[in-house]
Amino acid sequence: MKINDTKSKTVISKNVNAVIILMIISALLVRPVKAQNISLQESNHELFALSNLAGLVRAETKDNPTNWIELGKSWRDIDGNVIEAHGGGILQVGDTYFWYGENHRLGFGNQTGISCYSSKDLYHWENEGIVLPKVSMPDMFRDSGVVERPKVLFNAGTGKYVMWMHLDAGNYTYACAGVAVADNPNGKFRFLRAFRPITFDYGERMNNPRLKRFAEKEKGNTYRDMTLFQDDDGKAYTIYSAEDNASIYISLLNQDYTDVAKPSIIGKTWTIAIPNRFREAPAVCKSNGKYYLFTSATTGWASNAASYAIADSILGHWEIIGNPCSGAGSEFTFQSQSAFILPAPGKNDGSFIFMADWWNSSALNKSTYIWLPFKIGRYGEVVIENYDKWSLGIFDANPSSLAAPVVRLADSKDKHIIKWNPVASAAGYRIFKNGKLNGFSCSTEYEVSGLVPGTNNLFSVVACNINGVTSHASNLVGIRNGEAHNILLSDVAEENYTQGWGVLTIDHTDNGGPIVIAGRIFKRGIGTHANSEILYNLGGLYKQFTSWIGRNTEMPDGKVQFRVYGDGRLLYLGSMMTGRTPAQYIEIPVSGVFELKLVVTDGGDGDAYDDASWAEACASY
Ligand code: DGJ
Repeated sequence: MKINDTKSKTVISKNVNAVIILMIISALLVRPVKAQNISLQESNHELFALSNLAGLVRAETKDNPTNWIELGKSWRDIDGNVIEAHGGGILQVGDTYFWYGENHRLGFGNQTGISCYSSKDLYHWENEGIVLPKVSMPDMFRDSGVVERPKVLFNAGTGKYVMWMHLDAGNYTYACAGVAVADNPNGKFRFLRAFRPITFDYGERMNNPRLKRFAEKEKGNTYRDMTLFQDDDGKAYTIYSAEDNASIYISLLNQDYTDVAKPSIIGKTWTIAIPNRFREAPAVCKSNGKYYLFTSATTGWASNAASYAIADSILGHWEIIGNPCSGAGSEFTFQSQSAFILPAPGKNDGSFIFMADWWNSSALNKSTYIWLPFKIGRYGEVVIENYDKWSLGIFDANPSSLAAPVVRLADSKDKHIIKWNPVASAAGYRIFKNGKLNGFSCSTEYEVSGLVPGTNNLFSVVACNINGVTSHASNLVGIRNGEAHNILLSDVAEENYTQGWGVLTIDHTDNGGPIVIAGRIFKRGIGTHANSEILYNLGGLYKQFTSWIGRNTEMPDGKVQFRVYGDGRLLYLGSMMTGRTPAQYIEIPVSGVFELKLVVTDGGDGDAYDDASWAEACASY
């Protein structure tokens, strides 16, 4: 059974592609001009105003300092070289931050070793060099093996800096922890050992022939994506994906932090924090006495939806809350995967930076970073929005009210664009389409795409800050996208959707493969997963909805049922379909229908593997 903790979650807007396109467009629009240094105290608003005025780029040299964090660009150190610190973590020593990470300069597997950079302000990073060279690792990891996600803690008892990491064979079958120590934060680190910290019999699944090769009974449970966390009382923990990534374990470390506490006793020295959910990329923080654990799903280098959980005690019960990210692209963590949570320097309790990797799987050295600010709310709520350019001043902006923006249309030749005035003390803007959240922007304009031809769409903008303070909505502006004509639903944006697993995918299944129904391949269509509801705005303009429908063939016996609703009325109720049922063509009159709702429910036998497609889905005029 597929397990996912994002069940039945409302997903706002699709278009990750649109997000990428917007990012590319904004990258192209940005031109390097004379540098301006902006102090950390300056308000975010002033920062954005300046950046908008001058079209500045991120600081890349000693002579060209700027103080903001800009997502997804090639991040450079003060010498102008690309920062190689992937899957990393930060240790604060006095007033200096040390950022450790994978160095992929020579390609997959981290051939160079572990890099370290230092900074006093989180904007300007000095290269401290390779603090744990790959050549100093044991043979099996040196050449073809991988070294991932290094994290470092200082042990006050021994005066040593202790690094933990995930070590593995190139095919990820070795799956163990590595520990190295150093006298100084910038190394050199001396490799101590590779081992699997916990040995636990988790039952039947452990004997599955596929898992047998990991020899967990003999060698201990697998250890892959990991992090470290040091609590206020000096106790430290390793948090990691175990059981071939099925479960997240948390174990107390021993006194000198070079091993887990022994003897390992479940419930006492270690716990299974998140059982059987296939989560990885753990990152932990603590605020107001509670612990927060952020993870990703396990989809290799591809991004997916983050999730977070809360616990009152680190080895206690973890309650899964759901996706902390909000807005367009949130189902893919804005193209990234969590690496570390850093308390925002000098800011109030509950102010954090979500550090994540924007992986480029075909060229890992071209992977870059996404750091996003967030504050934990009074009830433990976390909302991470896609601030694409921000400074630490964002945490200080604290007005209790914000003025509403005034929005206008600023269409260019073939683009629909809305613009608004900058609102004092706003850190970003939420864009609403027909009353539903559609996007987020730190700038004062937004390009609208994917409108159903002929329909009228109303946009408004709400200014917000990181404390969750929002303005009233702006005025509404209407956009009509030409005249109605026959459309494939693959070519327009849905208004909203929910689905039981994964994300809505255009022209693919949610597993990334082609749409195949009982052996028949469709090039176009909407791939979803029961239980699913997808809404389109047809504006009362279209006459007929047609589609090939069917369940995908993986695990063919599961059943699903398709339904179509128009403005809340049932227009079509399909019969049960399994993965062996041939694709069925449906023709549904939709004259006068404004809201078209496409629904797939599981056929009463559970929703495992219930991928289902609306192939060649079309609204005709
Ligand atoms: C996802 C993990 O989070 C990364 O650290 C890395 O192990 C990749 N998988 C490898 O596919």
